[in-house]
Amino acid sequence: MAKFGVQFGGYLSCLLTTLTVCLFWCKSSATSNDLESCLYVKYAYSEKGFNDRDVPTKGIPGDHLRICDRSHTCCTKQMEHKLSTHSRVEFDKLLRDSIGSLKNLFASKTSKFDKVFQDLLDQSQKDFHNMFLRTYGMLYDRNSYIFEDMFKVLRNYYNSGGIQLSEALGTFFDTLYRKMFEVLNNQYTFSESYLSCISKHMEELKPFGDVPRKLTLELKRSFIATRTFVQALAVGRDVVGEILKVGPTPECSRALMKMSYCPHCKGLPDLKPCTTYCLNVMKGCLAHHSELNTTWNSYIEALLMLAVRLESSFNIEAVVDPIEIRISEAVMNFQENSQAVSDRLFQKCGRPRLGKRDTRKELEFKTFKFSPRHDDNKATKSVLNQLLGKIKKKLRRTKNFWANLPNELCDNPKVSGDRTTRNSQGSCWNGLTKAKYEAALVGNGLMNQKDNPEVSLDVTRQNIAITKQNLVLQLITVKLNNAYRGLDVEWEFPMDDGSGSGSGWMPDDTEDDNSHDIYFSYSTTRAPAAPMWPADSTKTPPKKLSTAPKMTSSNFLMVSTVIFVYCAIL
Ligand SMILES: *[C@@H]1O[C@H](CO)[C@@H](O)[C@H](O)[C@H]1NC(C)=O
Repeated sequence: MAKFGVQFGGYLSCLLTTLTVCLFWCKSSATSNDLESCLYVKYAYSEKGFNDRDVPTKGIPGDHLRICDRSHTCCTKQMEHKLSTHSRVEFDKLLRDSIGSLKNLFASKTSKFDKVFQDLLDQSQKDFHNMFLRTYGMLYDRNSYIFEDMFKVLRNYYNSGGIQLSEALGTFFDTLYRKMFEVLNNQYTFSESYLSCISKHMEELKPFGDVPRKLTLELKRSFIATRTFVQALAVGRDVVGEILKVGPTPECSRALMKMSYCPHCKGLPDLKPCTTYCLNVMKGCLAHHSELNTTWNSYIEALLMLAVRLESSFNIEAVVDPIEIRISEAVMNFQENSQAVSDRLFQKCGRPRLGKRDTRKELEFKTFKFSPRHDDNKATKSVLNQLLGKIKKKLRRTKNFWANLPNELCDNPKVSGDRTTRNSQGSCWNGLTKAKYEAALVGNGLMNQKDNPEVSLDVTRQNIAITKQNLVLQLITVKLNNAYRGLDVEWEFPMDDGSGSGSGWMPDDTEDDNSHDIYFSYSTTRAPAAPMWPADSTKTPPKKLSTAPKMTSSNFLMVSTVIFVYCAIL
């Protein structure tokens, strides 16, 4: 009797253990119990903004499914369609956020650099004006247009690139030379042909000493480098802006749906994709983007190299800032040699006629006391260099941006869940069920995608938009490298053509609506507004109440059998 009682108690405890194991088992693994209720799916589905009445209360046969596994499912045809659109919209948003921040970086650095440079030029012109006015007074005031024109030339070159800088600076020195010659020989009048004659001899007489040659060389190098740099930043901004418009292919949309929402249809809405699985999907979806890797890196490298030059030997501040000193040095050279130069010119071009002008006072060219430049802008002197330092740092971080994009997207908690649930190899979504993902990680780049098990892709076909932007990057990289070597840089397209052809200064914020459905041909329903990537929900979904857990899992049966056998032996 007692023995029976002990035996009975033993059986009872075994039964309880079995039940406990069952509860634990059914809760933690995907069994058809999940499909049996679909309650969990209802919750997740309505959280996306869809109507949970679309969701069947129990699993249904899945013959109507187009993307997900056609076994027992919680998805109707309409649900699969909606979720597919939704997954595409979400991917688009994540991609846009990522690429958009790259675009914003380039947009803000372009305008910042532009502003700092324009300010520098404005300040230099002001300093120039004040110093020349103080030093030459009326004489300068009357002829200030010559210098204003010079600044205009510099500005024009910077803004449009459509002028030959050395020629334009040559014209400036020629004008200055003629004017000074007239002023220095004020007792005479000179005809236009006489002045043309003296112009012909400027090269040989060098009235300004070595200043024009050196200043022109330095201004040219620095302006070319500066303009190329800011243009290249703007090109980067526009290239990224164009890439932003490239949407996923139908094959990619299909893979996205399978990865992100087929777990819903399986009754496992919180299951996140296995890491390798996610990477394969993203590498397939971003195969064309990854073709930008090499050219982008070369472009960034060229920008960084030129930035170093701009900080040092081609520093525009070092040339433009003291420009009034350089030019007054030229003026003084002419004054010092004025007698000798004039005598030579009278020999070569003939003795001019005496004029009747009574402007002797203009000749008071003697008291050239250069008051030292006010030094109040010392603190701001290296503003440009500070900015270049910051830009370099940010640029360096964008290296490998395109190659890293799949990793970046798969690292997003919205895609891969939080860190605690991540990388648990056996308990992730592998595209079919909750199990280890067996396929190998594919390589980077378009060609490697021929082995991609998740996204089928014609690897021989380029994406035209991306190929085009690759070319744009290559062209600007050549220019950057030329500017780095101090060579001339040709600008084919004037910037201010107003056509907004993608290389202008204006911010370009036109964004296409990419949310239309491309995978499903029938498109009567749309994804809800303001899509969010699923999960990381703070609210706990309703616990699946295992009131009558059905033991259908063969695994479970096996465990139960083992326990019973074990108890019987006891
Ligand atoms: C990206 O390009 C760089 C060369 O600039 C190369 O070293 C790297 O391996 C490339 N990355 C990928 C993932 O292809």
